[in-house]
This record gives sequence, structure tokens and C-alpha cells, in this order.
Amino acid sequence: MNDMTPTREQRTAALEGMGCKRKRVEDARFTQGKGNYVDDLKLPGMLHGDFVRSPHAHARVKSINSEEALKVPGVLAVITAETLKTVNLAWMPTLAGDVQMVLADGKVLFQNQEVAFVVATDRYAADDGINKVVVEYEPLPVVIDPFKAMDADAPVLREDLAGKTTGAHGPRKHHNHIFEWTVGDKDLTDAAFRKAEVTIKEMISYHRTHPSPLETCQCVCSFDKIRGELSIWGTFQAPHVIRTVVALIAKIPEQKIHVISPDVGGGFGNKVGAYPGYICAAVASIVTGKPVKWVEDRIENLTATSFARDYHMTTEIAATKEGKVTGLRVHVLADHGAFDACADPSKWPAGFFNIVTGSYDFPVAHLSVDGIYTNKAPGGVAYRCSFRVTEAAYCIERGMDILAQKLGMDPAELRLKNFIKPEQFPYHSALGWEYDSGDYHTAMRKMMETVDYAGLRKEQAAQRAAFKRGETREIMGLGVSFFTEIVGAGPSKNCDILGIAMFDSCEIRLHPTGAGIARVGTKSTGQGHETTWAQIIATEIGIPADNIMVEEGNTDTAPYGLGTYGSRSTPVAGAAIAMAARKIKAKAQMIAAYKLEVHEGDLEWDIDGFRVKGLPEKSMSMKDICWAAYNSVPPGMEPGLEAVSYYDPPNMTYPFGAYICVMNIDVDTGVYKVRRFYALDDCGTRINPMIIEGQVHGGLTEAFAIAMGQEIRYDDEGNVVTGSFMDFFMPTAVETPHWETDFTVTPSPHHPIGAKGVGESPNVGGVPAFSNAVNDAFSFLGSTHIQMPHDYWRNWRAAKSLGVFA
Ligand code: CDP
Repeated sequence: MNDMTPTREQRTAALEGMGCKRKRVEDARFTQGKGNYVDDLKLPGMLHGDFVRSPHAHARVKSINSEEALKVPGVLAVITAETLKTVNLAWMPTLAGDVQMVLADGKVLFQNQEVAFVVATDRYAADDGINKVVVEYEPLPVVIDPFKAMDADAPVLREDLAGKTTGAHGPRKHHNHIFEWTVGDKDLTDAAFRKAEVTIKEMISYHRTHPSPLETCQCVCSFDKIRGELSIWGTFQAPHVIRTVVALIAKIPEQKIHVISPDVGGGFGNKVGAYPGYICAAVASIVTGKPVKWVEDRIENLTATSFARDYHMTTEIAATKEGKVTGLRVHVLADHGAFDACADPSKWPAGFFNIVTGSYDFPVAHLSVDGIYTNKAPGGVAYRCSFRVTEAAYCIERGMDILAQKLGMDPAELRLKNFIKPEQFPYHSALGWEYDSGDYHTAMRKMMETVDYAGLRKEQAAQRAAFKRGETREIMGLGVSFFTEIVGAGPSKNCDILGIAMFDSCEIRLHPTGAGIARVGTKSTGQGHETTWAQIIATEIGIPADNIMVEEGNTDTAPYGLGTYGSRSTPVAGAAIAMAARKIKAKAQMIAAYKLEVHEGDLEWDIDGFRVKGLPEKSMSMKDICWAAYNSVPPGMEPGLEAVSYYDPPNMTYPFGAYICVMNIDVDTGVYKVRRFYALDDCGTRINPMIIEGQVHGGLTEAFAIAMGQEIRYDDEGNVVTGSFMDFFMPTAVETPHWETDFTVTPSPHHPIGAKGVGESPNVGGVPAFSNAVNDAFSFLGSTHIQMPHDYWRNWRAAKSLGVFA
């Protein structure tokens, strides 16, 4: 070896493969304002569409008069449900087996529901047109409180379902009932509660909130009458599914539909489903023969486009006096709004909420979920969450703290006592899941040691004593949370969307010079896939990540995939990428053997190429193999070096984490201060530690927002009272706490590279950590459970109700 020969370390580093803190390649364009978003698209002759929306939450639509609107200069058309009926598109199917009005058909069911679509030469003219459309409404009584939706005398919301006693998920009990979903063994669980030495019962609400991505939902639809082809550029997290749905409902052959997701400014579940704006823009383009753009504004996004959460969870835990859990019983009242438009895999009406046993070894459990209609916007999307896992984690993590309080035990000790033990993996939960791997005790103890948990509890005891002596008006809370996620939807045996199995895909093509392109079925909405997918390939086949271009989002070029949400990209597409790379490597080995004149079995992999076993100087780099693939392959072999993989995962992956929030609250003002927030995540093999840290920072910031103030709230008439960023808490750098991150690594045994997802974890684990901190602070004043969100005013009100001003 001469001085110029790179060392093994240098060769490995040059690849920038897995484990490297590779800088995000997409940031070069994002940080210079050179991204290409839907609203950047300007096509010749492009028109603009905008909605007339309902001011009422429930009303009959008696008439719609467009005469004056059509006189506004620039206004070309006003589309109503009557127009859509002529093309059979007045209603559309939802992902949850329900149907949803595209435009108000006879009545409106929530405030800001889409009533008519005005098409004009520019956005301002469309807006002027909206103001001239005259809609006559007859207001009807509204249902806002989910607990009153199934009263005998509750108004009938969905008249279209009159007489239907069965829905997509079984029998309906009431005219505002959607489904009942039950899992687990009821008899055994009831018996465990009868025998229990200690039980707790609490109604734990996870309020309605909203993903509110920076870029709202939008699209440009362009129908080419001559070719009969429809092109749609849109903010889609799952472009392939959108193409299939459009083909099915618009009856356009799938090959004549081109769906393109360009750069997307945040998704968080908000951009999975289909919205009336997409249908109306497509119909408007077909009717006018011109491209039509639809761009939602912030108020429209917050008030009408898919919400998240709104789960009201009556939670019961049975335990022994020593704190060993013996049973879990949960009933959820799920407020779905006016239509059941939840974005869950088809067979899961409450998503994966049955992960609610969390990280604990519950011998028995029973869960029942009732979905109901109210006069609120539809949705129920997985806001940085893997299909209701966030709600489940909040439910069990609050439940465990409430149990600890009743037992007089430390909440961390209670968790350690009940964790699933490392030797129990793969672990079969009482509610039907098979957890792949975990080492919860190590993670929890690392967290406790790093933050000096024992020391913090001592400080809290001293603070409480000082409060009682009247020396301080601050109370201190320690919010412990230990979550287990379930991500990577999912195995075709139990996951599909509208009948399409939830696999994912990757196609890799290597070019003669040792560079290549990877096309993947997912769609980054900011997670950095262009960076990390190339890192997987770099490690697998020894081509530097910089030489691999990653492309997603174009249904004409990318292989079919189910898209990006619920942290499924790494568990599913990440596996497809590794598998496609391994196919390439297998062919490369044959080419190398031929060129080196040895048997394939005599070769071994060595960082960036193959070498002959025992003769390391006889080797061939992947770069050289790429060249050979295009000029001298073994006789009978096809030239070229490319592969495609469609990966159907055998199981989900189960990331986990131990979080703690240290918070002080001033009882006189309700003002809180997050003194410390520590988050330990275990997502198995880590592809890019810097991107993981970024994902955790972002998810924790969202968790902070949700727990401490972010809420979609309605008044009794169904008016949204938090419909803009003036009222809907969106933390900036000023309010956001400092995050400390840490990790352990417990690889997934079934994933080709051992990786689990991470994007959703901080939201899942963060919310209970914040809420437990607030509740822990107030617990010594006699409180058991204070509902989120914990804004200043609610903290002050809690203090008042606990008598601190007496
Ligand atoms: O589906 P989504 O991309 O939202 O979530 P994810 O699979 O959790 O991945 C989020 C980002 O973190 C991606 O860029 C992943 O490649 C990266 N990641 C990682 O570097 N290592 C992991 N074990 C998991 C994710």
C-alpha cells in the first residue's frame, strides 16, 4: 500500500453511508428559495378556483344563485353540486369506507364546508366572484358535544344514511353512530377487574387539533382534451394512491393520469387524503379545457381540511397493591365530524389504537371504540402519528401516572416494574400485536441516570414543602413518558388502502460511470429522503451517496408505492431500497467474478467492491463493475445494472423511547416554564443521526404545541373559534424549549438493515411527557387529571379549582 492508497476508514467515510451525519442534499435548494412547490407552477392560460364556504355548521341549502357572480369580470364558471352530479362526482368515497359531499348537496354539515367552486382568470377575480354567489340557508340544530351525539333526540346529521343500520365497519347503533370496534377478551378483562386489589378509572380526552403544515393543500389540474390525459400537480403524500383513486372515480384510464408531487412543504398526515379542491379543480379543467389551480388559505386549511385526534378515552387499569398491572379496559368515543374521512388502513376504523397496552406486560385487555358524527370538519388524520398511536400512547401514559398516584408509587418505578422484559421479545400483546424487539429497562435507566431523576424528585419534594410554607408560588412537575410506537404500515396480511396492499418500492439504475438514480414509491415532505435513501444504497453497494440521485413523487417514473406517512418510509421503502441494492450487488458479484476469472463464491464484499478471498490485492471496485456492466458482462447475461424491489414487510417495527419533561408552573398566573426536556429514542439502526435529531426536534415542537395550547375549538353553534394562527397556537423559536436528545440502538430483527421509523415518535412520546409534567405538578394539591391543552389560562383555572387562592 503506498501513501496515496486510502485506508479502510477513508473508503468508508467517502461513501457517506449509513451512520454518517451527511448534510441534507435537498437543503441547497430549500435554503436558497429554489424549491419547486405547487404554487410555483404557472401554466399558460391557467385559471384559478376558490370556494364559497358555509357560515353555518348545520343548515339546509335552499338555493344557490350564481347570476351576479358570473357578471364579475374574469369569472368564467360557478360549479355546484348540481354541476358535479352531471359527471357523477357530487359525492366522493372516503378512505374509511364512507362517502363525502364534494360540494354541499342539499345541506351543509360543518362550518366552512365547500358549497360552490368559482373559476376565474385570477385568484382575485375568483374571490370577488365568491362574494357575489348568493346562498340561501335554513339553519338546523347542531351537534358539537360528542357525548350528546347519540342522545335519542339528537338531530339527524347524515340524512343520506337514513335507514342504514350497517356501515363500512359493521352495525350502527344510532343515526349519528358510524361504527363500533372491539378488540381483546372482554370476559377475562372483566374478571381481572373483579379480582383487582387496586383500580383506576379516568376519562382522558385528547382534544381536536390540526397538522397545519407550512404549505397548505393545493393542486394544479390540467386536462388535455386531445390526448384525453389529466395531469395533476399536487401536495400529495401518496401520489400513486391519488392516481388510482382518480382513475376509479373519474373513470379516466390510469395510464392517462399523471400525478406529480413536487417539493412539498410539510405533510404531517394532512396531505394523504383527497379533498373537494382536487375534484373541483379537475372538473373545472375538464369543463374549461384550461389548467386550473386551487390553493387553500390558512383559515380554510385549519377549519375544513382534515383535523387530528378528538378521542375521548375512558381508561381503566387493574393492578395489585404492589403495582403489577393485571388488566386494561378502554372505551373511546371518537368524534369523526361530518363524514368518516379518517386516513387509516382500510380494516382499521380506529387505526392502530390497539397498541394502547403500550410498553407494559398486560396479561389481559379489552378495547372498544365508538365512532360518531358531529357538525365538525371531517378528517381524523395521523398528525405526525402512526394511525391513532399518539392517542393510544397518551391514554396509557396518563393512565400509568394516575395509577402511580393512587398507589403512592413513583411513576418511573411503576413503569420499570411493568415493562415487557427484553427476553419476552418477540412479544405478543393482549390486543393482538407482535412487538419485534425492545430493551425498555436500559432506555429508561439511561434516561433516569442522565437527568439525575432521583435528584429531581428530591428537589421537587423540597419545592413542595416550600410551597406549603408559603415561600414560593411555583410548583414543579416531572413528566415521565415511555412509549412504544407501531410503524411501518404495513404487512399485506393486515394493511391495505382501498384494497391496495401497503408495500413500498424502489428502482435503482446504475450508469456506466459508477453513478445512478434511485426512484422510490414514497414522497418526502421534508424528511430528507433524497439524503438518507442514497446513504442506504451507498452502504449496500459501495457507490458514494453523492453519486446517487433520489427521485420521488412522479407516478410516471417512480415504481408504485403507498407514500409517506406514519413513519412508514424507513420501515417499508427503506427495506425496498436495501433489497433492490442487494439484487444489484448479486449481479455485480457475477460480473466481478467473470472479470477477475474466479468463482463467485471466491469473492467477498469489501466496503466499495469485491475482492478475492485470501488475495486482497485482486479486487474490483463497484465503479469498475458499473463500467463492465455496460461492455463486458459474462456470456448469456443481460447488460446493464438495475433492479427493482417491491417490499411487503413481514411485520411492523416498534420503536420506543424514554422522555422526561421538567416544568415549573406559577399558580398565580398559570405561566409555565419548561426547565428541561430530555428525549431518548430507539429507532433501531440509525441511517443519519443528524436527520434523526432534526426529526425529533420537529416532533417535540409539535408535541409541545399540542399539549400546551394548540386546539381546534368550536363554540356551541359550531363556529370554529381557533381558525387562524392568531388563535391556534403555533410555537415559534421564542416559545420552543431547548431539546436534549439521546438514543439506544435495538435493531429490528426482520428489517433488512434493522431500522425502525422515527419521524412520529417525538410527537407520540412528547405529548404525554408534557401533560404528565403539568399533572404531576398539580397532583400534590389533590388533582388526579387535568385535560389538555395546558395553556396559561387553564393552568390558572386548575390552580383556582384546587383552592390555592383560598
Ligand atoms: O415516513 P417518514 O419519512 O415520515 O418517517 P421515517 O421513516 O421515520 O423517516 C424520517 C427520516 O428519518 C428519513 O429521512 C429517514 O431516512 C430518517 N431515519 C433514519 O435516519 N434512521 C432511522 N432508523 C429512521 C429514520
